[in-house]
Amino acid sequence: MPSLDTLLDRLWSDYRGCNPQVGQIHQLLRARGERVVNDHIALRTFSGPQIGLEVLAHAFVDRGYRAAGEYEFTTKKLRARHYLHPDPERPKLFISELVLSRTSPALRATVEGLLGQVDPELGGRWDLAASGRPWPAPSSGVYQRLLAESEYAAWLAVFGLRANHFTISVNALTTIATLEELGDLVVGAGIPLSAAGGVIKGSPAELLEQSSTIAAPVELELADGPATIPGCYYEFARRYRDSAGRLFTGFVTSSADRIFESTDRRSE
Ligand code: NI
Repeated sequence: MPSLDTLLDRLWSDYRGCNPQVGQIHQLLRARGERVVNDHIALRTFSGPQIGLEVLAHAFVDRGYRAAGEYEFTTKKLRARHYLHPDPERPKLFISELVLSRTSPALRATVEGLLGQVDPELGGRWDLAASGRPWPAPSSGVYQRLLAESEYAAWLAVFGLRANHFTISVNALTTIATLEELGDLVVGAGIPLSAAGGVIKGSPAELLEQSSTIAAPVELELADGPATIPGCYYEFARRYRDSAGRLFTGFVTSSADRIFESTDRRSE
């Protein structure tokens, strides 16, 4: 069985290739002598037996991860679960899925058309989470129709299965203490941060603060020609200890709800 390192490396190298901000931000941090530690990796999928949340989680559960919390995003028609590894140095996983039973019949029909083209063997693959788009590229018309109802569905239809974002742990940085400082560094390098719901989501009282870049546009080939579409973004997280002194390892629904919008064209 390929190791967890191999699986995480696969996700990481694909993500780096899709997000030019990663190299830039790492260079800024390396220049300060920092070592980057990932707080969590976020994965997106469509509900159902082919590639649903539990199917996607399977390879990680086989490698030691355990489900640790459930989240509902009613307006966006998403549900999510986070997974922890017994080794706290391992990144947490935040896996969400678009619940097709909650979407319009038209969106569901379109997505079921995509899922109908998925290789039935795919769900059993160890590298499912980094396997890319398992259906042919949609047309720009299909993309726009999905986008009108669900930015999440449109992103997933085009980009497929890959890390939507990695997240730098601010707690693990030694020369930067706050999200404000890290944000200043990133914005100073010309990389904009998502302002959806305020630049910093969450608070010390909620035990988690998060911010993120706006996804860099990626040029790709749709069925009817080239298009430029927001790809992956980079997130930053700072965690706090609770009154018992335990570092918070969960997620805050209201913050995650706005973080999803970092791939939205309207997130500026
Ligand atoms: Ni995240």
